[in-house]
Amino acid sequence: MDKLLIKGGNRLHGEITISGAKNAALPILCASLLAETPLNLSSVAALKDIDTTIKLLGMMGVKIDRNADKVSLDASEVASFEATYEMVKTMRASILVLGPLLARFGNARVSLPGGCAIGSRPVDLHIKGLQAMGAAIHIAHGYIQASTLHLPNRRLQGARYYMDMVTVTGTENLMMAASLAQGTTVLENAAKEPEVVDLANCLIKMGAKISGAGTDVITIEGVERLRGADHNIVCDRIEAGTYMVAAAMTGGEVKLLNVQAHLLDAVIEKLREAGAIVTVGTDSITVKAEGKLKAVNIRTAPHPAFPTDMQAQFMALNTVASGVAKVTETIFENRFMHVQEMQRLGADIGIDGNTALVKGVEFLDGATVMATDLRASASLVLAGLVARGETLIERIYHLDRGYEHLEAKLNALGANVQRVS
Ligand code: UD1
Repeated sequence: MDKLLIKGGNRLHGEITISGAKNAALPILCASLLAETPLNLSSVAALKDIDTTIKLLGMMGVKIDRNADKVSLDASEVASFEATYEMVKTMRASILVLGPLLARFGNARVSLPGGCAIGSRPVDLHIKGLQAMGAAIHIAHGYIQASTLHLPNRRLQGARYYMDMVTVTGTENLMMAASLAQGTTVLENAAKEPEVVDLANCLIKMGAKISGAGTDVITIEGVERLRGADHNIVCDRIEAGTYMVAAAMTGGEVKLLNVQAHLLDAVIEKLREAGAIVTVGTDSITVKAEGKLKAVNIRTAPHPAFPTDMQAQFMALNTVASGVAKVTETIFENRFMHVQEMQRLGADIGIDGNTALVKGVEFLDGATVMATDLRASASLVLAGLVARGETLIERIYHLDRGYEHLEAKLNALGANVQRVS
């Protein structure tokens, strides 16, 4: 199994280009199931989760043509409506095929995701929302079996649905399903994440009638059929945020290209509070820092508040900053898996329920640590970049799920990161 060996202490300098967002590409790839003609996507990053989604769609009969960051998906002849446990257990986002399959073919069989490193993460709201649209859903043998065959014209029926928690993939699944439903659907307490907006923009190009994406009420007037379209995936704000923290922590100066700063307001605000100088351009962000950063309190919440997917990276920043900071995780239970590993590097962190108290230390010392989930892994890389000596990160397949060409990008900025077998 591959590991990452990081020799800490280098300041990061230079420019890198941010990739297309994983969390936008995943639902948009699944949206290809809704269309009768090919959907052509660009800025699709080379990531393990994208490979998994493409494999899953291929197993259903979607014809796929992938060339560098361009992917064309032709779902004119779908033959299977199933996502097996083997696929879903490797990637929870496989649940995103449920809405499209049901809406277009009236039939879907998708495995329940099961446990996950960052908490129980149920999919009850996806299911209840589809039931509100009239779907018959049975759960048996670990699978969600859904059908519309009893409904008028075998189509989902528009409905008003209030989600009692803000769920990103839940909003996406229901928005895709409602696009082909009969009548109008109103999703209340919808997720406002930029990836939801990017999916809505793509669906609109495909012929869907959607308004309100990016607010907490999304209205979808169902249409009878959707067609393919051309769409460029929005930039990955979490990848961008991770490199911004890397620049600040190492006391360097890094310019990110292909990034829309307004998607990162909460992160930029916190970096400035920590003492970094952040300069925003039309499609670029430059982060510069000198000397010790100040520890900053973090509280995760749905967009536009501070993203849970940046919590671990700011924890890393706080470990070597001056002062004490509280990091509160409100979205996921058990999303402090990185803390024990950071403690192995010499960090001073105490946990009380969903809050971590981080006291900045003078320096971290390199050690062997283990990656547990995607963003936890990223935070260990950041810690390794500033630790004295060598840090060896095991189980880095998590990083390959979400960071395109991670070591190449870091090394281009002057880091010393090697992949070892
Ligand atoms: C998505 C992102 C993930 C990010 C998360 C929160 C993708 C592929 N993944 O995950 O990177 O960390 O949003 O921004 O886009 N919940 C329920 N019932 C449901 C659905 C969710 O109780 O049916 C709960 C979850 O357990 C969690 C909270 O709602 O506590 C938010 O989860 P959700 O927004 O659904 O996360 P994902 O969409 O899985």
